[in-house]
Amino acid sequence: MQASTLAALKELALQCARSAGELSLKRMKEPFTVEYKTSASDLVTAVDKEVENHVIKMIQARFPDHGILGEESAHAEDYKQYDTLWIIDPIDGTTNFVHQQINFSVSIAVYHKGEGMVGAVYDPSRDELFYAVKGGGAFLNDRPLQVNRAVSLEQALLCTSVFWNKRAEQIGIDLIVKKLAGKVRGMRLLGSAALEMAYVAAGRLDGYVSMQLNAWDFGAARIIVEEAGGRVTTMMGTALPYDQKSSVMACNPTFYEELQHFLKSEQTDVPSQN
Ligand code: IPD
Ligand code: CA
Ligand code: CA
Ligand code: CA
Repeated sequence: MQASTLAALKELALQCARSAGELSLKRMKEPFTVEYKTSASDLVTAVDKEVENHVIKMIQARFPDHGILGEESAHAEDYKQYDTLWIIDPIDGTTNFVHQQINFSVSIAVYHKGEGMVGAVYDPSRDELFYAVKGGGAFLNDRPLQVNRAVSLEQALLCTSVFWNKRAEQIGIDLIVKKLAGKVRGMRLLGSAALEMAYVAAGRLDGYVSMQLNAWDFGAARIIVEEAGGRVTTMMGTALPYDQKSSVMACNPTFYEELQHFLKSEQTDVPSQN
């Protein structure tokens, strides 16, 4: 990919992330409808949909020949036919958006032939824009980011997604993460996977693990962690897909080995994602 194309993608991705974040903050102060998707713990608001449409319009106005994979849009169209694909989560952490009005983010990623090119995760409440361009390093606003140096399991501050709800119990993921939680210094759960992974890139967390995320949850943050010197794979240690549901682990390369060793020594098979 030409440097000028990459620069144009970066510019638009950052614009989309900021503009989407500002729109969600504005709408948060007004009444909005909240619906259940699959259950009372799986929410979608009118703001999620409006923000996603807003981002799609911005992308289509500039790059009409690019594909888009967004959480709130129908995925009927075959996005695989496009060389360049935008993967977007308009509000990552909808439950926080509704309840806390903080700790949510916008996630915008650009992939070219399956390879991560640009990632932007914007936390509008704190005005923190985490971003990375392939080969260009990772940044928080204008500050370069670097993952933490190696720590032992006992010294690590880890972060994970939900591990105690009914669904987690059904597929057996609660036990695996509980075992890990018993080993580390602390386990955190913010409620926005994209932000949690961006915090690994920023050195605010030593690692992030999740048994099940969607492509739009990790698409951008994965690029940011990698450009900050971290390693991101599935929890089995295999390559992360760019467009499918997957387990995810993200941390610095040395701590990664220790985490993998722990998971393997516990013979923890990561259950299927379906
Ligand atoms: C959710 C958040 C949450 C994670 C869930 C995701 P959403 O995304 O990232 O942290 O635990 O698995 O679905 O639905 O709020 O965009
Ligand atoms: Ca959702
Ligand atoms: Ca999400
Ligand atoms: Ca979302």
